[in-house]
Amino acid sequence: MIGRLNHVAIAVKDLEKSISLYRDTLGAKVSAPQAEPAHGVTVVFIELPNTKIELLQPLGENSPIAKFLEKNPDGGMHHLCYEVEDIIAARDRLKATGARVLGDGEPKIGAHGKPVLFLHPKDFNGTLVELEQV
Ligand code: CO
Repeated sequence: MIGRLNHVAIAVKDLEKSISLYRDTLGAKVSAPQAEPAHGVTVVFIELPNTKIELLQPLGENSPIAKFLEKNPDGGMHHLCYEVEDIIAARDRLKATGARVLGDGEPKIGAHGKPVLFLHPKDFNGTLVELEQV
């Protein structure tokens, strides 16, 4: 059911510093920052030959990653994103096996303008999983 690894997301406190780390220290191609008020984050994507790294910085008062950064003050891996062909079919299959879909269970439009869903980390080895329909 799952396809390619679309991206690995890392939560960061200081986006400018992290951009410089990837662009200047690691020599990677980094996109322009993109504010995602509906998701409470500002995002940049680092393009690697085989996948992407998504850097997330909290945006606004109730950012869903604020608590994560309280627990991980240096930043840390926040989620993995797998591609699926049909997000509704994937959701229904996962729910039938007892996996918990976060929020109201309806796909939201993610940072790439495509439908996404998040799955409970307790059901996936302690890793928050994002599914993106491609
Ligand atoms: Co993501």
